[in-house]
Amino acid sequence: MQRRGRFITLEGGEGVGKSTNLALVADHLEARGLEVVRTREPGGTPRAEAIRKLLLDPAADEPLDDDAELLLVFAARAQHLARVVRPALERGAWVVCDRFTDATFAYQGGGRGIDTARIAELEAFVQRGLTPDLTLLLDMPMAAAQRRLEGRLDRDGGQRDRFERERAEFFDAVRRAYLERADEAPERVYVVNADQPLDAVQDELKSLLDGCLEAWA
Ligand code: TMP
Repeated sequence: MQRRGRFITLEGGEGVGKSTNLALVADHLEARGLEVVRTREPGGTPRAEAIRKLLLDPAADEPLDDDAELLLVFAARAQHLARVVRPALERGAWVVCDRFTDATFAYQGGGRGIDTARIAELEAFVQRGLTPDLTLLLDMPMAAAQRRLEGRLDRDGGQRDRFERERAEFFDAVRRAYLERADEAPERVYVVNADQPLDAVQDELKSLLDGCLEAWA
């Protein structure tokens, strides 16, 4: 079936403000009369959310193998694409998704050190050519992001999930891999400096979106 909607993803390390900014992006598009589906990865459907739980569960009694982690991420993605993303795009809705395959290249590629060629094979198998039209990469120095993450965990009384427990080197590698992805696809990935007041970040996002809306009209 013909695809009519647009697919926008938000990316970035832990603590960069993805949730707040995802709401801004979706609200901004809705205010322009578009149907918007807000979703996230891993997750977005009940079965894919069950896989997310497995991925984030910090239970230390059985370490999760890196390849198993990669395959679970793509299993959740296959389900999400089939049940939510493709149907929405086909009916003309815009999909705004919190993380997608750039996160796999950043976390499983950069963070875990899995060969990017293997990730690209799974990407082709699962996505069959479907890639985001626009990716907003929220970037900030790791120390600032870690402070924000700690603030959020303190406020929510939350436990760190399996990824949030990783060491600084892991997050450095994740950030580097994200920035490499942006360098490789500058026509799709916009790097937004998230280490500035929220108003400034949001003004930048809104003008980026308006530019895209005009270009795609
Ligand atoms: P979130 O809490 O920011 O929604 O993301 C959940 C975690 O899942 C986050 O630490 C990044 C990780 N993740 C991967 O490792 N690979 C992926 O492909 C995706 C989508 C997320």
